[in-house]
Amino acid sequence: MLTGPQVIFFLQTAVVAVTILLIVSLVALSRGQVKLHGRINLVFFVLTLTTVVGFEILIRFVEPQLFRYIHDNPALLSGLRTHLCFSVPALLLMPAMLYTGMRRRRETHLFLAGLFALAWLGTLITGLFWLPTE
Ligand code: HEM
Repeated sequence: MLTGPQVIFFLQTAVVAVTILLIVSLVALSRGQVKLHGRINLVFFVLTLTTVVGFEILIRFVEPQLFRYIHDNPALLSGLRTHLCFSVPALLLMPAMLYTGMRRRRETHLFLAGLFALAWLGTLITGLFWLPTE
C-alpha cells in the first residue's frame, strides 16, 4: 500500500529527472542545436504529462485518501497551495511551449520561456522543500 510521503518522494525524483532533461535541452540550444532542443523537450513534455495524468488517476480514483493528512493540516495545506501556484501555471504553459517551438513562433516562444522558467523553478523549489516527505 502506497503512502502519501512515498508518492511525494517519487514525484520529487521525477521532477529532478525531467529538470535535468530541460537543462540538457538548453545546453543543446546554446550550441545552436535547435532540433535537438525540440526533440529533448518533446520527451520532457511526454514524460511530464504522463506522470501528471498517472498521478491524477491515482489520487482521484485509486487512493482518494492518500493526501488527506495534508488537507487536515493547515500548515501542510498552505505548503501544497504554494506549490500549486507554480506547478499549475507550469503545466498549462507546456503545450504552448511545444506549439510555439514547433511552429517556430520565436518571439512568443521566448516570451513564454521566461514565464515557464519562473513557474518551473517555483515548482522545483516548492516541490522539493514545501511538501512533506515523512
Ligand atoms: C525554458 C526555456 C526555453 C528557451 C529559452 C527556449 C528557446 C528556444 C529557441 C530560441 C528556439 C528556436 C526558435 C526558432 O529559431 O524559431 C526553440 C525551439 C523549440 N523549442 Fe524551446 N525553449 C525553451 C523551452 C522549451 C520547452 C519547455 C519546450 C517544450 C515543452 C520547447 C520546445 C521547443 C521546440 C519543439 C522547438 C522547435 C525545434 C525545431 O525547430 O525542431 N522549448 N526554443
